[in-house]
Amino acid sequence: MPKTEQRVEQKQRENWGSRIGFILAAAGSAIGLGNIWRFPYLTGENGGGAFIIIYLACVFIVGLSIMIAEFTIGRRTSLAAVGAYKSYSRRWTFAGALGALSGFFIMGFYPVVGGWALAYVFKSLTGLLSSPETIGDAFSAFITGTYEPLIWMVIYLALNVFIVARGVKGGIETAGKVLMPTLFVLLVFIIFRSVSLEGAVEGLKFLFMPKWEDVSGQTFLAALGQAFFSLSLGMGCMITYGSYLDKKENLQRNAAIVTTMDTCAALLAAIAIFPALFAFGMEPAQGPGLVFVVVPQIFAKMGALGVLLSAIFFVALTVAALTSSVSLLEVVTAYLIDEKKMDRKPAVYASSAVMIILCILSSLSLGVLSGVKLFGVGFFDFFDILTDKIFLAIGGMLLAIFVGWFVKKEDLKDELTNGGTVEFKLFEVWYNLIKYVIPVAIAIIAVSGIMAIEQTSLMLFGLAVIVVLAIFSKKL
Ligand code: TRP
Repeated sequence: MPKTEQRVEQKQRENWGSRIGFILAAAGSAIGLGNIWRFPYLTGENGGGAFIIIYLACVFIVGLSIMIAEFTIGRRTSLAAVGAYKSYSRRWTFAGALGALSGFFIMGFYPVVGGWALAYVFKSLTGLLSSPETIGDAFSAFITGTYEPLIWMVIYLALNVFIVARGVKGGIETAGKVLMPTLFVLLVFIIFRSVSLEGAVEGLKFLFMPKWEDVSGQTFLAALGQAFFSLSLGMGCMITYGSYLDKKENLQRNAAIVTTMDTCAALLAAIAIFPALFAFGMEPAQGPGLVFVVVPQIFAKMGALGVLLSAIFFVALTVAALTSSVSLLEVVTAYLIDEKKMDRKPAVYASSAVMIILCILSSLSLGVLSGVKLFGVGFFDFFDILTDKIFLAIGGMLLAIFVGWFVKKEDLKDELTNGGTVEFKLFEVWYNLIKYVIPVAIAIIAVSGIMAIEQTSLMLFGLAVIVVLAIFSKKL
């Protein structure tokens, strides 16, 4: 690209004030409920150590490569997800639209859990910790209740709407700058408490001594889906972030930093939780309640200080969740603004109005609506499985195919080396991963997952949705 043109383009597009600003925003999107809430409970359900090893392989082989690819496409085109695909060919529009749809469906359950985190700030302060024996039952009673979780969900979603509608992400990102480190510090603190409890060793064994006999095709799909979910990949979120990245920045290094931070957060959460869990004699496979039950129990033994720390923990978790869900809502909003020519406010209000309905269904599916099934699962699981096990994985595969087969290799090399000024020693490795290994690996994992999973009909439904989008690609 000639210099003058490049300069014009740089002027039109705002850039991140600094590298650290970019990393914090991208890490803010990545680090959220996926790390602290979802990763530990998936680890518990999938047998511990073996799952962690498979997860790490998914993160550093597939996830990191895809993140580099998303940053590259974003910065090359200076466009958000849909526009970036479209600028190559309208046939590819659907891959961007699939991302918007994933964001939309993730927002069909994420705010429910965000609401739980928010509620636990107040519950921590109002007596939750005073009777440790009842913390587990209190959680089940809370999430299966009808009105209470709905109220918290609405408050949580309203915070998102407020932030995105006004286009003022600055505030939440500033809050993130303080509260993300707080979350890390608290996790380390909890780890010290947790491992010093009697019987904690069992938890460490569970995490670090893999039991390969429990591994199935399902385990791989769970790990892959979690890697995409946790790193905010497979739906164009990181394409959009990359589009704001300065031409002087080293893309692969930034991707490595964000990936490492995200993975550390997840591992810290697991190391914080499992030793205590085993010390308390609880079940590792207890599902989505894990962090909400174990963390307050750890703090319950510490008097007034514990109450305060528990509240701070959930404040930090809520803010970590907010910096993530804001990025999800933004992807949906950006799609409506760019492709459907809506104004920002109506775009946010319209999409969140539908999200509220999805979230109500999700929340109630844990209680009064637990009998209502869609493709064999309740609403909460429907949105969860549909997005991370199908849409994100296939979204990642499409991106890899797109970058590997439809974007010129010289262009990729030029972008990744900043026009030859920085080195990317592993370029060939990365390129071959993206072009051959990752698409094939995702296909194999998806198929073996589909065969192992009970929800075959849901999988087929998800794939059908993608096919329909592809057919109508030019209309999206
Ligand atoms: N990564 C976030 C988390 O771990 C969730 C999230 C934010 C996300 N943006 C995303 C997931 C984009 C997939 C795609 O909580």
